[in-house]
Amino acid sequence: MSTSSATAQSHPNIAFIKYWGNRDNTYRLPSNSSISMNLDGLFTRTTVSFTASKKDSLIINSTEVTGKGLDRVSYILDLVRKMANINERADVTSENNFPAGAGIASSAAAFAALALASSRAAGLTLSEAQLSVLARRGSGSASRSIPAGFVEWQMGKSEEDSFAFSIAPVDHWNLVDCVAIVNSSHKKTGSTEGHAIAGTSPLQNARVADAPRRIEICRNAILKKDFEAFANIIEHDSDMMHAVMMTSNPPLMYWQSATVEIFHQVREWRAGGLPVGYTVDAGANVHVICLGDYAKEVEKRLREIPGVSDVLVAGVGGAAKIV
Ligand code: PMV
Repeated sequence: MSTSSATAQSHPNIAFIKYWGNRDNTYRLPSNSSISMNLDGLFTRTTVSFTASKKDSLIINSTEVTGKGLDRVSYILDLVRKMANINERADVTSENNFPAGAGIASSAAAFAALALASSRAAGLTLSEAQLSVLARRGSGSASRSIPAGFVEWQMGKSEEDSFAFSIAPVDHWNLVDCVAIVNSSHKKTGSTEGHAIAGTSPLQNARVADAPRRIEICRNAILKKDFEAFANIIEHDSDMMHAVMMTSNPPLMYWQSATVEIFHQVREWRAGGLPVGYTVDAGANVHVICLGDYAKEVEKRLREIPGVSDVLVAGVGGAAKIV
C-alpha cells in the first residue's frame, strides 16, 4: 500500500458580488456567478497523508474533529479516491492562522487547501479549473480561493464548467479589507442551510435575474480601478443578499446594531472623500474595503466605533499553493 502526503496553503476570500443560493445543492452549483478577492496574510495550511488507517481522521488547530465536520472532509476525499483509483484512508491535519469566530469564513480556505493537498497526495496533478471544481464540492466559496488575486466564479452550465478563474493578478490594485469585528452572541445559521432556503424569499429571483448586470459592473470597476463604481456596486450587492436573507423562511437577520452603524459611517466617510465601501457575509462583521493608502486611517476610525471589538487588516492574496 502506498503512503503519500502533501501540504497545501490557501487564503480565505471576501465576495464583492455574493454567492447565495444553489440551483443544485448536492453539486453546489450556484444560482449566480460571483466575484471576490483573496485575503493575504490569513491562511489555512492543510496536510493530507494517505495511510494504512481504517478510517479518515481530521485534526483542526490541534483538536480532533469527528461527526459532520469529518463527514464533509471524507466527502471530498472520496471524490479524490475515485479520481485517483485508490482506497487508502487519510489523516488530515489543518491549521488556521486567523482566530475562529473572527468573522472570516474559514470554509473557503479550508476546502481549497484540502482539494489541493488531497489530490496531490493521491498522485493527481489537477488543473486550476479542476481544483476549483473539487473545492466547490466542499464549500461553494472555496472554488474562489484556488486562483490568485481578483477572482470570478462563473456559475457555468454544468458540473465541469462551474469554476473560478483570476480576472486580475494580486498586484493589479492595492485594495485592503479592514474587517470590523462586531461582537455577536446570536447563534448564526450556517451558509449551507442558508443557501437551501434562499429560494423561499420572493426577492431571490429578482436578485439572481439582476446578477449578470452587477457582475459586469463589478468586473469593469476592478479592471478600470474605478473605486467609486466599485464601492457602490459592492454595497448594493451585499444589501441585496441581506434583503433576501431577511425575507427568507425562516428569516435570517445577521446584522447587529453596530453593523448598521458602520454602514452609515462608511457612507459618510466616502461622501467626505475617503475611498471606502462595505460588504457583509453571513454574519454581523463588516468588511470595509479601501484603497491601501488609507488602510491605517480606516482601521483607526473603525476602532473608535462603539461595538467594534477588533479590526483585522488584509491585502490581496495569491493562489492556493503546495508548500
Ligand atoms: O461557500 P459558502 O457555502 O460558505 O457560502 C458563502 C456565502 C457568502 O459568504 C455569504 C457569500 C460569498 O459569496 O462568499
